[in-house]
Amino acid sequence: MPRRPTTNSKSSVREVDRKQFRYAVFAGGCRNSRQPCRTETLEAIITVIRGRYCSASSKHFADMDALTTNGIGTRAMNLVRQTSVMTALASVGGLWGAYQLQKLASVVYLHFLRPCSIDQYAKGSTSTWALVTGSSDGIGKGFAEELCQRGFNVVLHGRNQTKLQAVKTQLLEKWPQREIRILVLDALTGVRSAADLQEAANQLEDLNLKILVNNIGGSGGLKPAWLPLAQRKPEDTSLFLDLNAAFPTEITRVLLPQLIRNGPALILSVGSVCGEVASPYASVYAGAKAYNKAWSRSLSLEMVAEGHNVEVLNILVGEVSSGSQPQELNFFCPSSRRMAKASLDKVGCGKDVVWAYWPHQLQFGTILKLPRAIMNRMILSMVLEEKAKEENGMKKKP
Ligand SMILES: NC(=O)c1ccc[n+]([C@@H]2O[C@H](COP(=O)([O-])OP(=O)(O)OC[C@H]3O[C@@H](n4cnc5c(N)ncnc54)[C@H](OP(=O)(O)O)[C@@H]3O)[C@@H](O)[C@H]2O)c1
Repeated sequence: MPRRPTTNSKSSVREVDRKQFRYAVFAGGCRNSRQPCRTETLEAIITVIRGRYCSASSKHFADMDALTTNGIGTRAMNLVRQTSVMTALASVGGLWGAYQLQKLASVVYLHFLRPCSIDQYAKGSTSTWALVTGSSDGIGKGFAEELCQRGFNVVLHGRNQTKLQAVKTQLLEKWPQREIRILVLDALTGVRSAADLQEAANQLEDLNLKILVNNIGGSGGLKPAWLPLAQRKPEDTSLFLDLNAAFPTEITRVLLPQLIRNGPALILSVGSVCGEVASPYASVYAGAKAYNKAWSRSLSLEMVAEGHNVEVLNILVGEVSSGSQPQELNFFCPSSRRMAKASLDKVGCGKDVVWAYWPHQLQFGTILKLPRAIMNRMILSMVLEEKAKEENGMKKKP
């Protein structure tokens, strides 16, 4: 019988390890032999080493290697190292899996379980107002309808008095207890006139304005919406930048003191997937939407820094059937009203940028995780399809 290693008070820890190691080799039955090491031997060695060296440094492993005479130890060490690497990889994999699960759970909570908290802006007043820019049509009109549905009075903003009046009539027919006002201001000229902007703010001064929806944007009806940059006129560039970047910034700037005074208040801006991915033939629009997101996010933190009770939320939007872009509704392309509802449901979610409509998050959240080359190929084929659709439509209706 082999003698078991013993410990006396004078032995160093390393001496005890050596003895245990030799014992393990002996117990495996191949000490000092040249025959290949048996599995039981290696397992016995690994058990001893694991016990002592789970967290050992590589120097310890080197010491152990030096103890061996026939390579058994080296092979054992390799196995231990492999086992350690596998354990480390499994731990990293486990952590990554847990992180992904947590992300999935938070998406499920955001879209399906979280109660909407927009009511906080109507509390304590029977007459709370929301201004929706570009609300004579499309998603803006959807916002006006949803806000009426949720108990807010609405200021409809647009450039066409007749269209705005028609929307006002429709809203009052459906929600007669609400109050509706109209604000006529062409965003393209208004943005260049400090006096016009101030006049707009003055018109709303008497209202308990708590919500500003910066919905205006897109191409303002400009056709074709998809065109190579070199073929664009300078007015086209200004139009995209003014509608999607400058006007939301300026109207917010002049209304901000009132919103801060009336806090808690909300500034919700409508962004686009084009600000997230490369958008060939719509590069200026995409750049303006990227600005819109960065601006909104920065303003959100500025409100925190200044101690103002103003929530600033940027909504990422994929394809939506709207006034200027009527589309066949499908899983990935909701109606304007549905898009507005999903957006208002996200108010108070604690984020500064959010995909409001979950199929858009599924669609573009997945695409955005793909390798760049694959993502770009997919985006390009989607854009070319849209461009072809627009060109065919323009040929039919000159
Ligand atoms: N539809 C989509 O697939 C989609 C996708 C991503 C993001 N978005 C974003 O969603 C927002 C709304 O888009 P939408 O598709 O609903 O647009 P839309 O149907 O074209 O409606 C735009 C609204 O803005 C008004 N407007 C346009 N130019 C104006 C100006 N110069 N001055 C004042 N009002 C003006 C329009 O008034 P008129 O009625 O007089 O034209 C209309 O009320 C935009 O920010 C857009 O970038 C849309």
